[in-house]
Amino acid sequence: MTTWPTGVPGLAWGADYNPEQWPEPVWAEDVELMRRAGVNLVSVGIFSWALLEVEEGRYEFDWLDRVLDQLHAGGVRVDLATATAAPPPWLTTAHPEVLPETADGVRLSHGSRQSYCPSSPIYRTKAVALARALAERYRDHPALSAWHVGNEYGCHVPRCYCDRCAAAFRTWLQARHGSLDALNEAWGTAFWSQHYTAWEQIVPPRVTPAQNNPGQLLDFDRFSSDALLELYKAERDVLHEVTPGVPVTTNFMVTWNFSALDYWKWAAEVDFLSNDHYTRAEHPERHIDLSFSADVMRGLAGGKPWLLMEHSTSAVNWQVRNIAKLPGELRRNSYAHVAHGADGTLFFQWRQSRAGAERYHSAMVPHAGTDTKVFREVELVGAEYQRIAEIVGSTVDASVAVVYDWQSWWALSQPAHPTSDFAYQEHVFALYRALWRAGVTVDFVPPVADPSALSAYELVVVPALYTVDDATPYEEYVAGGGHLLVTYLSGITDTRGHVHLGGYPGAFRELLGVRTEEFHPLRSGEAVTLDDGSSATVWTEHLHADSAKVMASYADGPLPGVPAVTRNEHGDGVAWYLACGLTGDGLDRLVRTTLDQAGVHHADVGQEGVEVVRRSGQVGGSAVSWLVAVNHGDGDVELSAVGVELLSGARASGSVVVPAGGVVVVREEEV
Ligand code: GAL
Repeated sequence: MTTWPTGVPGLAWGADYNPEQWPEPVWAEDVELMRRAGVNLVSVGIFSWALLEVEEGRYEFDWLDRVLDQLHAGGVRVDLATATAAPPPWLTTAHPEVLPETADGVRLSHGSRQSYCPSSPIYRTKAVALARALAERYRDHPALSAWHVGNEYGCHVPRCYCDRCAAAFRTWLQARHGSLDALNEAWGTAFWSQHYTAWEQIVPPRVTPAQNNPGQLLDFDRFSSDALLELYKAERDVLHEVTPGVPVTTNFMVTWNFSALDYWKWAAEVDFLSNDHYTRAEHPERHIDLSFSADVMRGLAGGKPWLLMEHSTSAVNWQVRNIAKLPGELRRNSYAHVAHGADGTLFFQWRQSRAGAERYHSAMVPHAGTDTKVFREVELVGAEYQRIAEIVGSTVDASVAVVYDWQSWWALSQPAHPTSDFAYQEHVFALYRALWRAGVTVDFVPPVADPSALSAYELVVVPALYTVDDATPYEEYVAGGGHLLVTYLSGITDTRGHVHLGGYPGAFRELLGVRTEEFHPLRSGEAVTLDDGSSATVWTEHLHADSAKVMASYADGPLPGVPAVTRNEHGDGVAWYLACGLTGDGLDRLVRTTLDQAGVHHADVGQEGVEVVRRSGQVGGSAVSWLVAVNHGDGDVELSAVGVELLSGARASGSVVVPAGGVVVVREEEV
């Protein structure tokens, strides 16, 4: 199976292209400008269903033929969408059952996009038919490079609670639990009189008088991710059947606020991976957030190629304040994804819309035209990408892994936990940030990694791995000499949501050599001090060190003298436990100590502004490495380097200067 858009030379560079929003004469100018900007790949037709199937079963492909022909003539490859992301009004009017329902029973209307229920047989039939019609029409079109199924599955409708979904949920539950007895046990239905005596009694976790059952919530999250995946696969299978040589993808949303899909499962079902990532314009550390997303994508890709399918050239239109990007930010953002392993970066979208809900979202060609900061930067990066094309297919090596788990994220997002101040993604990000600031490249790995996969790493970080049956892989990893850092809210429940008894952190208790008798979350705004001078917010717990050595204790707060950070020797390795919401410098120090002890080289304090990542691969049969450095600060920085700086063509014989706000890519030579 082909695992990369066919015929794309070098790094992929382009955008979503929505020509249907413009009169036809504009298309020729589009292609001309794409050539100027070095564009080699565009995603076409993502929201074109209503114009491709104008009434039930009547397809009109002529306009799309002309679009594809023009792109081909201009040398631009096409990531062709199956156009199923926004069902047309004729469909939802004729078949209102296609529309999704919210947990409180509101049926969502058409009039925006993604107005479909994943369990609707009519939607599925029509979507698959359209995918087939497109595949049959364009199977031999020379511009066809890849397929783009749907768009951002679950973005607006991660879960549907309608009766059809209720029936599909029951079927899914039967396959998972086998019997009603097993389901009753798994969900703990003895509580609050929820015992089920017939499958028909089970419904999705709709709005109820009090908190929903946690097992039901977690299973519904799993079901909803799987239901959307099945929908994707139905289209993908048709595409594989009709166009076996054309790789298929769908764009993920590995980002700070989207949690609905278990992408570890999804990643196995795409031929190459693609991601959409938008920075939080007002977040001062949005560039770290970006690297986090890119590293998760590389982990998901597991060696397959991936690209950034969407980011923005400047402002988006859906944040509270849509701030324009600073000069150079588009470029830094693009290179940061490449540094972390992307083999291309595309934008939403090519030409800024003049009508519709996204009029104020930036694009490669802004409302103001080409005499603009945005278009100049687009042209610059487009030209530069051609100079670093050799980097495609190379890999990124890391000696630290972070365990990342959508199911723990779901479970910890449920109501009725010890505190509402804890947020899984922010917690993982805080640890990632400390690693990023230490200049360490990080891989993300799935929760049930086998110990041999973990043993490739000097240090494994396990943040809030809440939902876990047992810690055996981690025990074996540490026994074999690994260094592990586990943080609070790990090991608390099994995968059904039942609490591991005998003291927290349940599944990890023995490995960590500790036992917690009670949680002590902190009040809003409260901070406690540790005896090493660091401080913690959000979380503390009444921890006893058994075999573990106490590295820091609380100096004040509700638990003075109680251990807050511990270190346990286990076999040939070491297992750390962080039992509190350590902040800022304290977390930086702890992470650097664990890195030092694990023997991982890290940057000195004070070098936090420059991001340096190494990719390694081959050029002409010889092993090569590339140093990609992105300077997020406002002063020039000199780095050691020997080789050729590919963007300027200059030799680096000992060092290279990364200009303030700038980027360098050095093909390194061994010295
Ligand atoms: C994405 C979506 C695009 C566009 C973009 C705007 O979520 O896939 O179609 O809406 O956001 O930022």
